[in-house]
Amino acid sequence: MRNVSLWSNRLALDAPCANDVAAIVDACQDPQIPRWTGSIPYPYEEDDALEYIEGVVAPGWKSGHELVWAFHIRDEAEHPNEGTLIQVPRDAADQVPGDENVGLFAGVVSLSMTSGRIASMGVWTARGARGRGYTAEACRLVLDFAFREPKESDPKDLPSGLGLSRIEWRAMVGNEASAGLAQRLGFSYEGLSRRALSTVNGRLLDVWIAGRLAGDTGEATTWPDGVTLLGQENIDTNH
Ligand SMILES: CC(C)(COP(=O)(O)OP(=O)(O)OC[C@H]1O[C@@H](n2cnc3c(N)ncnc32)[C@H](O)[C@@H]1OP(=O)(O)O)[C@@H](O)C(=O)NCCC(=O)NCCS
Repeated sequence: MRNVSLWSNRLALDAPCANDVAAIVDACQDPQIPRWTGSIPYPYEEDDALEYIEGVVAPGWKSGHELVWAFHIRDEAEHPNEGTLIQVPRDAADQVPGDENVGLFAGVVSLSMTSGRIASMGVWTARGARGRGYTAEACRLVLDFAFREPKESDPKDLPSGLGLSRIEWRAMVGNEASAGLAQRLGFSYEGLSRRALSTVNGRLLDVWIAGRLAGDTGEATTWPDGVTLLGQENIDTNH
C-alpha cells in the first residue's frame, strides 16, 4: 500500500519521515509518552526514531499492516479549505523541508491491523500540542478514512477508505487523558483486560479496552463510574 495523506484545515497527516526525526526525539523526552504507551523506549534517542521510521513505519505502509501518520499543525491562514478532507497520495520521500503543506509536528497516530476488518488505534501527542483538540481531530481524520468503504475504481495500492468494521482502543489502566480522548471520539468502554499489554521494559499491565464500530455515531460516550478506580497497581512511580 502507498502512503496515504489526510488533511483538514488545521492538520496535515503524513507517514513520519526523516524530516520528523528531530521533533519526534524532542517530543519523546517527555516521560509521559513512554510511560503511557509502553512501546516507546526511555531514554529516547535519534537512532530510536530512525529505527522506528525505517523498521516500523516504512514496512508497515508497504504491507498495509501498520499505518502510521505524523500529524502537523498547518498554517490556517494559508490553507483556508475549512471543512474539507483532502486525501493526497504522497511518498515520504516527496516530503522536503519547508514544504508549505507541512507545518509544526504535533504527534503520531496509528492503526495496527489485527485481523480481518479490525484494527487497533494508538496515539501520542507532543506536550506543547496537547489539550487543544488537535489530537482528537487527527484521530477523527484517521477514523473517517478507516471506516470509509473503498471504491471499486480505487487503485489497488491506494484505497480511498479501508472499510473497517471495528477499531479498538487500548489504554493502560489509569490513563485518564487517553480514556477522555477515547470517550470524546465515540469509543464505547468494553472492559478491562488483565496483564494484556507488554511494555518494552518487559512489564505486563492491565488495560482498558474500548471499541468503535463502523455504524456507531462517533458522538461522545459515557464510561462507567469507577473505571478509573480499577487497577491502581498499574501506576508506575518511576516516571
Ligand atoms: C492522551 C493524549 C494523546 C491526549 O491528547 P490531547 O492533545 O490532550 O487531546 P485533545 O486536546 O484532542 O483532547 C481531546 C479530548 O481528550 C480528553 N482529555 C484530554 N486530556 C485529558 C485529561 N488529562 N483528562 C481527561 N480527559 C482528557 C478530553 O475529553 C478532550 O476533549 P475536550 O477538550 O473537548 O474536553 C495526550 O495526553 C498524550 O499524548 N499523552 C501521553 C501518551 C498517551 O497517553 N498516549 C495514549 C496511549 S493509549
